[in-house]
Amino acid sequence: MSHASSTQRFAGKTVIVTGAGSGIGRATVVRLVQEGASVVGSDVSQERLDTLAAELTASTFASVVGDISSEESIQRILAAANGRVDALANVAGIMDGFLPPHELDDATWDRVMSVNLTAVMRLTRAVLPLMRAAKSGSIVNVSSEAGLRGSAAGSAYTTSKHAVIGFTKSTAFFYSPEGIRCNAVAPGAVATNIEAPFRSAFAGERLGPFMQVMVPSVATAEHLAAAITWLLSDDSLNVTGAILASDGGWSAI
Ligand SMILES: NC(=O)c1ccc[n+]([C@@H]2O[C@H](COP(=O)([O-])OP(=O)(O)OC[C@H]3O[C@@H](n4cnc5c(N)ncnc54)[C@H](O)[C@@H]3O)[C@@H](O)[C@H]2O)c1
Repeated sequence: MSHASSTQRFAGKTVIVTGAGSGIGRATVVRLVQEGASVVGSDVSQERLDTLAAELTASTFASVVGDISSEESIQRILAAANGRVDALANVAGIMDGFLPPHELDDATWDRVMSVNLTAVMRLTRAVLPLMRAAKSGSIVNVSSEAGLRGSAAGSAYTTSKHAVIGFTKSTAFFYSPEGIRCNAVAPGAVATNIEAPFRSAFAGERLGPFMQVMVPSVATAEHLAAAITWLLSDDSLNVTGAILASDGGWSAI
């Protein structure tokens, strides 16, 4: 989708985006660059970032390859921003095989929590000193339909995405007097490269009928990028602590 926009909401601004190599993160980077931002895009996949960089003719895109579950990657992302971060989009995330509690292994739980939740906290913590000094900043976290209900994923993913909402509200509360905003989007189903195989027959049987009835539509990554960039931009200046569902109405059922 092209946005032949005269809108340059991010001119002169530096924005960090995680999960930049694919899906929602990638579409967010494309939209940001079109609207004048300097973007630091991070992903675990060098190949995906290289492909994106080649497609973006703008020289305002810097990529950082690394696993965001390590503090070392977080510090490299921060360093690439060169002392200025106007906005941060925590987009990277992974699924959990739809495992229910009685089939959940520690490795899946720990991995999902570290990527979907701990990395969000760490990158937020890393950019806050710059945003506080500037008395301005906008952070957008990507939660999920699974952050709103128990019937959209496995229990590790569902827990991590509910926790992202708690962290979003806490961050919004603490820094609203300082001009720093923090919001979340809750996507429904979006066509991306996210790997979502069912590793549980029990979950398939229990969740299957709910997913079929309740997922009203599959959105594009660009639909989500539109919501995320709105929250990142000054267009949403009076909005903080909000959880914006972009789900075709799923959460209204
Ligand atoms: N696709 C959906 O239906 C859907 C629905 C609700 C929420 N979400 C959320 O949206 C976000 C983006 O997902 P997507 O659907 O665009 O997925 P995607 O797999 O297409 O893109 C995610 C990107 O994040 C990267 N990534 C994964 N783990 C990483 C790590 N540890 N360190 C650095 N990069 C890492 C991947 O390499 C990938 O390029 C996720 O948080 C996901 O939970 C997606």
